[in-house]
Amino acid sequence: MKPTLSPSVRRRLEKTARTAAKSAYAPYSKFRVGAAVLTGSGKIFSGCNVENASYGLCNCAERTAIFSAIAAGERKLKAIMVYTPTPLANMPCGACRQVINEFGPEALVSSICDSASRIETTIPALLPAAFGPADLL
Ligand code: THU
Repeated sequence: MKPTLSPSVRRRLEKTARTAAKSAYAPYSKFRVGAAVLTGSGKIFSGCNVENASYGLCNCAERTAIFSAIAAGERKLKAIMVYTPTPLANMPCGACRQVINEFGPEALVSSICDSASRIETTIPALLPAAFGPADLL
């Protein structure tokens, strides 16, 4: 069953993701992305994309938010909200799906943009038959 968010938590995630995009370091793509994760303890952490002159080292907003939550001691992700500066909502890239799966194999994945377009789905739908921690045991 798809996890759900209360309207107030959803609003907080949306605001956090939109605000986080303002901090994006995206001088190469000019594509400023923001993300917010809801952790198992109910806290919200934000992230933005952080690019690098060595392009392959660019870090997506989603992973920045997740790493920030993990660095604060969190280990479980319930939901992630992504904001992209686009007319239509987008979904996280493959690398981010894999990182979300590590901590939130059932996570709700939502995305918002500059219009009313939005997507709401889950990690099992975005990354079926995922390789995860249990596969190493
Ligand atoms: N980007 C994200 O931060 N999240 C996504 O879901 C898609 C792409 C970033 C990576 C790079 O800094 C820029 O957007 C263009 O791909």
